[in-house]
Amino acid sequence: MTENVQRTLIVLKPDAVQRAIAGELLARFERRGLRLAALRLLKVERPLAEKHYAVHQGKFFYEELVKTISTSPVVVAVLEGPNAIAVVRAMVGATRPHEAAPGTIRGDYALVGLRNLVHASDAPETAAAEIALWFPEGVVAYARDVERWMTDEGAPS
Ligand code: CDP
Ligand code: MG
Repeated sequence: MTENVQRTLIVLKPDAVQRAIAGELLARFERRGLRLAALRLLKVERPLAEKHYAVHQGKFFYEELVKTISTSPVVVAVLEGPNAIAVVRAMVGATRPHEAAPGTIRGDYALVGLRNLVHASDAPETAAAEIALWFPEGVVAYARDVERWMTDEGAPS
């Protein structure tokens, strides 16, 4: 079976770092089987916030969104694996936490939209653009021995 291996970008927003659950949230993605391909912690300056949220420019929540992500450091990562974009979106849950299913990050940890803990790329094009924006130096390509137990690669045919 051919796998659709993808890379996707997550931002653990300031609320995740301030609540000291950034590691816990990152661990969920690792436990699922996704591979870390890049990782950094940084305080976001306004120009980067504006570029990241450019698709939302003009929306009623845009200004608050840009300000909120710039208030305190974030942890940003690239995650890699089969169907990573859809897998991560499903794990993050619905935008409005009161609509997010239990078991998702937002459904387990969050209450309101501006404090919904995680950003995740929503399509291959946005994932590529966001990875280039946050990791202009590129990501790290490598393999883990454990992957043959989590992907089709090692499954008997
Ligand atoms: O993060 P997600 O892709 O689920 O949602 P989005 O539609 O791309 O919106 C980006 C972010 O804006 C959300 O994660 C929320 O923090 C915020 N937002 C909000 O506060 N109120 C809304 N009605 C929509 C989005
Ligand atoms: Mg989005």
